[in-house]
Amino acid sequence: MEIDGEMQWQTVELRKCGGDNLYYKMYCAKMEQFPADVHRFCDPQLQHGRRRELVRLLRNVDELSCQKLQILFSFSVPNAEAITFISDLNQPVVSAGAGTGYWEYLLKSHGVDLIAFDKNIVYPPEMRYSEIVTSGPEILEQFPDRVLFLAWPDIDESSTFSLDCLSDFKGDIILHVGELLGETLSANHWGQSTSRSFQLALAEEFCCLSRIKLPNWPGHLDSLTMWKRKSAQPVVCDGANFHYVNTKCRVYL
Ligand SMILES: C[S@@+](CC[C@H](N)C(=O)[O-])C[C@H]1O[C@@H](n2cnc3c(N)ncnc32)[C@H](O)[C@@H]1O
Repeated sequence: MEIDGEMQWQTVELRKCGGDNLYYKMYCAKMEQFPADVHRFCDPQLQHGRRRELVRLLRNVDELSCQKLQILFSFSVPNAEAITFISDLNQPVVSAGAGTGYWEYLLKSHGVDLIAFDKNIVYPPEMRYSEIVTSGPEILEQFPDRVLFLAWPDIDESSTFSLDCLSDFKGDIILHVGELLGETLSANHWGQSTSRSFQLALAEEFCCLSRIKLPNWPGHLDSLTMWKRKSAQPVVCDGANFHYVNTKCRVYL
């Protein structure tokens, strides 16, 4: 399918597409159009001139590149499996650092009870798909009964946003969207989405119980993972220490 010929995407209203996931359709069309060697853009064996051409396809925001689509929609591309997984949890959600609110819009369109917040400096109101409260992580203290949704909160290792969310959040379930330790092509082996200190603290307090592969742009290795809070109190069982968590209903897609 031709993006410019057959898809209407130029305004937020058109991109909302009545709750249909237009971003996923544009992602599929883009990936079909890309040259076969696009994934080699960071291969050191690639000729310099070719790398320049490929990087331009991926990152030139004056064209409809991956980076431009990430700005218009979201960093990770949502798919039906991820949206269904979250709506099947049947739990209210609070989204931290929602950006344009595109995932949040799709989730609400699928019946999820969702509140979103962001400091709302990066994305102006006319770029947003859904209501986003202006706030920092301290708002999370009000929502211990919601699932925390965290998609690409940290711009780089200097950001403390994800870690601040973790310390203010008193609920039991976290959904993480993006890259994680070792699942990245970035020179930062903690990935491009959440800081090292956040991921270490997350693994200390929470247990990863589900993982859904997301569509990935060249150079990304994205997933949706679900983390459940472990009992803080370790229990010694015949010399071994365990932290209890209910491990029923694990999903790996
Ligand atoms: C990289 S963007 C990701 C946006 C969106 N979640 C996505 O996946 O496309 C990070 C977002 O976190 C927000 N953010 C960063 N620090 C924040 C803070 N201290 N309080 C609230 N929002 C913050 C930024 O404004 C930005 O919208």
